Amino acid sequence: MHQHMNMNMNMDMSNNSPMSQKLLSTSALPQGMNLPTLANLKNESNQEGVFEATLHLKSTKITLTPDLTTEFWTYNGMIPGPKIEVFEEDHVKITVKNELTQPTTVHWHGLLIPSDQDGNPQNEIPAGGSRTYEFTIPKGTAGTYWYHPHGHNTVAEQVYRGLAGTFIVRSKHDPLASLPEQHWFFSDLKLTDKGQIADNSMLDWMNGREGQFVLINGCYRPKIKIDSATRIRVWNSCSGRYLNLSIPNCDVYLVGTDGGLLAKPYLLTKPLLLTPAERAELIIMPKQTSTVYLQSIGYDRNKMGNVPPEQDIILGELTLTKSEPITLPNTLNHLPNMGPAVAHKLLEYTEVMDMKEPRGGVLFLINGKRHDMSRIDLKSKIHDIEEWTIFNNSHMDHNFHIHGAQFIVQSHELNGKKTQPEYIALKDTINLRPHEKLTIKIQQNLPGLRMYHCHIIEHETTGMMGQLMVE
Ligand code: C2O
Ligand code: CU
Ligand code: CU
Repeated sequence: MHQHMNMNMNMDMSNNSPMSQKLLSTSALPQGMNLPTLANLKNESNQEGVFEATLHLKSTKITLTPDLTTEFWTYNGMIPGPKIEVFEEDHVKITVKNELTQPTTVHWHGLLIPSDQDGNPQNEIPAGGSRTYEFTIPKGTAGTYWYHPHGHNTVAEQVYRGLAGTFIVRSKHDPLASLPEQHWFFSDLKLTDKGQIADNSMLDWMNGREGQFVLINGCYRPKIKIDSATRIRVWNSCSGRYLNLSIPNCDVYLVGTDGGLLAKPYLLTKPLLLTPAERAELIIMPKQTSTVYLQSIGYDRNKMGNVPPEQDIILGELTLTKSEPITLPNTLNHLPNMGPAVAHKLLEYTEVMDMKEPRGGVLFLINGKRHDMSRIDLKSKIHDIEEWTIFNNSHMDHNFHIHGAQFIVQSHELNGKKTQPEYIALKDTINLRPHEKLTIKIQQNLPGLRMYHCHIIEHETTGMMGQLMVE
């Protein structure tokens, strides 16, 4: 039976076999290689405004060191999957060949496309099967997106075995187009001492998986050179790892979030928290010629079980060359001015113990329910401006992600204290502290079924997900 979680209990799940596996030492992977650029998915169409390509999902052996070959699941044989780059209003046609032994879908995270093309778990591509996704990129949606599997019950494993890739939508009138650009795609890798991808432990299922290696563009602790004001697109594609990015000796401006550019640049004065699935666009201006560590600063997200607080970790090495600061444009984007809300919704996150659940023994629920593919949890009227309040009534941080729309955060409320966001931004994923109440404004402009869920991918896979019908 379900029981309410007693948070004072002393759970030691660390030797809960068969999940406890010996892990590879972090000194086993080489570090300090130059940051690789992301390979592009080649456009096979020569028609103006059309992007056509094929993704093959398959098991791929990748040699990480001369004596270590690891089997990943990949898109087109690479980690991360190939980078898709298109322009607003382009027509995209991507054929997916599923050569895995289990069903999958491809979800185009953050893109505003029809629900039947968005890789819902109801629309799986069977093992050995294929399908073509086809959609047109709406005008005004230039931004930093990504793609990953979204099948039923399989997402956590498919993501930790390597399936994820980047998707950039460009605008022909990009105010920052003249700047050099880099891409930092963060992913997480957990290897056994045999160099194979480890299964999830009980703690991984509870807290979200974290491996011993954080990779950037598939590379462990790379060297990154920045010698002038540079635009950086950053993705957190980790299953459960929170990144709290610190970039020393630089002025760092946040210029874009999940759904595109901010209205104006925002100078960061503290590390940038990026929870799983969030993206950011930064302008980095080195103030000092120096070599420094790119780090994730320990962020306490109140995990369950006997887990020590998060340490600072080194992500890479930055070689900075002092350069003349540049003046950024004052106006970057015109964000939609959402009017008053005509409908309100309330979501509540809770946790229950469930020892019948082999994956972690804890379930995280939305409005008391576990995901059910045949149940519609909420309904929205197409084009209605809605206000959603999401209340994290649990003991750990979770984030909130919804398909089909970019929302704007209105307020945060924690311990009875209400605060306004520091900047207005287009978001499809946002963190909630324990007991935080978040209010967003959102408008769904396409009909059909949309998922919303926590993007700690283990929570999503074990059912912390609901379904919205837009009609
Ligand atoms: Cu990144 Cu529902 O997904
Ligand atoms: Cu999504
Ligand atoms: Cu969660």
